[in-house]
Parts: sequence; C-alpha cells; structure tokens
Amino acid sequence: MFPDPKSKSADLFARAAAVMPGANTRHMITFGPYIVYGERGEGCRLTDVDGEVYLDWVNNFSTQIHGYGFPPILEAVRAQVEKMICCILPSEPEVELAELLVERIPGVEQVRFTNSGTEAMMVAIKGARGVTGRSMIAKAEGGYHGQYDLVEASFLPTPDNWGPEDRPAAPPFARGTPQSLLDQVVVYPFNDTERTLALLEAHAHELACVVIDPIPARLGFSPARVDYLQALRDFCTRHGVILIFDEVFCNRAGFHGAQGRLGVTPDLTVMGKIIGGGFPIGAVGGRREAMSAFDNLAGPLKVSHSGTFTANPVSMVAGLASMRHLKPEVFERLERQGQRLRAGITGKVDALGLDMRANGLASMTSLQFFREPASSYREFHRKSGEGYLQRMQQLHRLMLQEGVLMATRGMMIGSTPMTDADIDETVERTGRALARFAEVPAAA
Ligand SMILES: Cc1ncc(COP(=O)(O)O)c(C=O)c1O
Repeated sequence: MFPDPKSKSADLFARAAAVMPGANTRHMITFGPYIVYGERGEGCRLTDVDGEVYLDWVNNFSTQIHGYGFPPILEAVRAQVEKMICCILPSEPEVELAELLVERIPGVEQVRFTNSGTEAMMVAIKGARGVTGRSMIAKAEGGYHGQYDLVEASFLPTPDNWGPEDRPAAPPFARGTPQSLLDQVVVYPFNDTERTLALLEAHAHELACVVIDPIPARLGFSPARVDYLQALRDFCTRHGVILIFDEVFCNRAGFHGAQGRLGVTPDLTVMGKIIGGGFPIGAVGGRREAMSAFDNLAGPLKVSHSGTFTANPVSMVAGLASMRHLKPEVFERLERQGQRLRAGITGKVDALGLDMRANGLASMTSLQFFREPASSYREFHRKSGEGYLQRMQQLHRLMLQEGVLMATRGMMIGSTPMTDADIDETVERTGRALARFAEVPAAA
C-alpha cells in the first residue's frame, strides 16, 4: 500500500530524482513521498508498476474521456501509424477534425491545431494581437491557461500579492518573469461585473483580448454566471476586443462545448485534451474574422503559426475517433454519472458531518473543504482556509490507499467506460477514505 519505500514506484522515483529536477516533468501531479508510476490501463482502471489497481478519476486531466484501450482510438491510431506517422505535408484527418469542430462548437468557423493547450493559448493571443494591432490582454484572477508566462500572471495568487479587490495585481507565477510582460496583463475579478467592466473600460483601447475559462477547475467547476459572460461579450463587441474562451478543460461540458451549454459565444475558442483522444493536441478556433491574422490566402500574413508536430496525423485520427464517439447521449450519460458521484459523496460527507462539498458540473467534480460553492477565486481561497493543500494531500493519499486516483487538488473527472457500479464503488471507497480523513488531526 502507498507509501511503500520498497515499491518499484519508490525506486523509480529515486532514480528519477537523480536525473530529473523534481524527479518528474509535470509539477501539476507532484505528491509525496514519491509519485506512483503508471504501467497500463483498461477501461477506467489504471494499474501501477507495483500491480496496484486504481479507479482512475483523473484521466490524464481529462484527456482520456474514453478511458484506456478504447477500441476505435486504438484501431485508428494503429492504422495511421502503419500508413504514416507524420510528414511535412498536411493530411486528410486534419481537415476532418477541423470540420468536426466547426460543426459542433458554436463560435468556431475555422480552426488551427497545436500540440498542447498551452501552445493553443499562446497562438490565440498572437492571433488576437494580429487582428487588433493591440498588445494587452485581460485575464481573470487565479485563472489557469497553461504554462505561458504571460497568462501565468495571477495564477494562484495569495493575499500577500493579490492586491486590492477592485484592482487585482498581476503577480508573476515564475520567478524572473519580466515586469514588462506583467504590465501587459489586466487582471479582473471573476464574476464581479461592475469591477471587471470598470477595469476593462479603463484599458479598452489597449486590449487585444479578454481571456476567460468559463468553468474553471480552480473554482471546483462552478461556471461563470451567464450574465457576467454576456457582459464580457458585450464589452468586447463594443470595443473590438477579441473574447477568448479557454475550453481546454471545460469543452467536455457538453456536445457543443462549454459555450454551447452556457449560451455565450466567444470570438476565439482554445481547445485541447479530449479533442486529441489521448494524444498531444491543442486547437484555436473562431470566427473567420477573428482568425484572419493567420490567413495568408486572403492577404499578407499578420501572424505566422507553425510547428514540426502541429496537426500530426496520429493526434488527428485519435481525436476524430474520440470526438465521433462523443455523441449528445454520451455527454448526457457522463453528466448523469457525474451527478450520481456528487450525490453519493455528498451522502457520505453528510453522514460523517464533514464540512465538505462535492462540487461540479457534468463529468467534472471537485472535492472542497466548505459547504456553499465559491463564485470567485478569492472566495474559494478564503473558504478553503489555511492548510488547504496539506489537507488535500492527506485526502489524496487516503483515496490512493482506497484505490481511487483523484487529482491532487481534489478533482475527479469521469470517463465513458465507467458504469454505475464503478461510480457506486468509487462512492463507497471515497466514504472509507473520508471516514479516515475525519479522524486525521488537521496538522498531521
Ligand atoms: C483551462 C486550461 N487551459 C490550458 C491548459 C493547458 O493545456 P496543456 O496542458 O495541454 O498545455 C489546461 C491544462 O490543464 C487547462 O486546464
């Protein structure tokens, strides 16, 4: 049982620590005293190198929406690899995946592919700058949009650096981030229409884009209020600013993405994760005009975008297989199961008298250490309280010991191979983990 110093994972971690700073390449998944190493997956179950089997509720932060070994993805990838792994020419699957996204996502008339969500966000911002000729961006306080240092401004700010409520600061996330870069970012308070509009209006003629994740994981998947999104939409239309929705994660909110569900259409949409069927991918899609900076057929190129692995055919065919099997009824089923999970965990939390909440929407669930949902980053931070990360680590470990793999910040993301029995088993195991959690002293 984790943690076991004699395990193969512990040994691999020690070897990794010798040759990799932090022993790993993904800080988002770090946990201690070592990280468990994955070996193989089947359906919604993941087996580690020591033979421990987990119900996988991370699904590689959502990319494995069909779990492991989904035959249509395996067949499509096998066939593509046999034919051609990649080459310098574009391929038919690229056109097909672009067509599928155009058909489904309301704000998408044209698409360009990248290799990750981070890269797609960088490209979207460049595109917005190219169209508007302006350089500044606005982003919501606490929002995560990938590893690009510009959008990392105000990612996970704390009371000592987040500044006044009506004018949030843009603290760097990485040490050494140039101040000149941070000066290009207007940080606005999520869901606070009056203060957000006051800030945006003050920079209206300098802003290339307003970036927002409409269902942020860091808020436990509580969506932005629709009237708030509409206010952003109206502001952007009024001032010729490009509204960018980051749907890298929340695209799985429904068949037509988060925007289809919430009923507000951005100019550009940044996508990733599920659209690649488990292979590296990102995409920027949008209205024709908002995508025009990349259009070298219509006139001189304003912004160049390329990449050695961009739109590689393996990601394209895997993405096509993944998306074609995500029909409206599949999203409905994922949603029902998300509700079943949340209701089940709420029952356990209530029975134990814990001050916790299983928050979320559709197939995205987040465990929180408070009862009423938070509607802004600061509210989430205050309600989570001191020692939030340590307590989440304790719970994460207990869940792992019960054979449930959740994300280190309490995220639980569903997948199509899960049955109601899997959900109920997860609830029972979570109940056992929570019962033990209730007995752990806060500082242990
Ligand atoms: C909302 C959001 N934006 C952007 C990204 C970055 O995507 P990637 O990890 O593919 O670079 C993520 C990844 O988790 C995300 O959740």
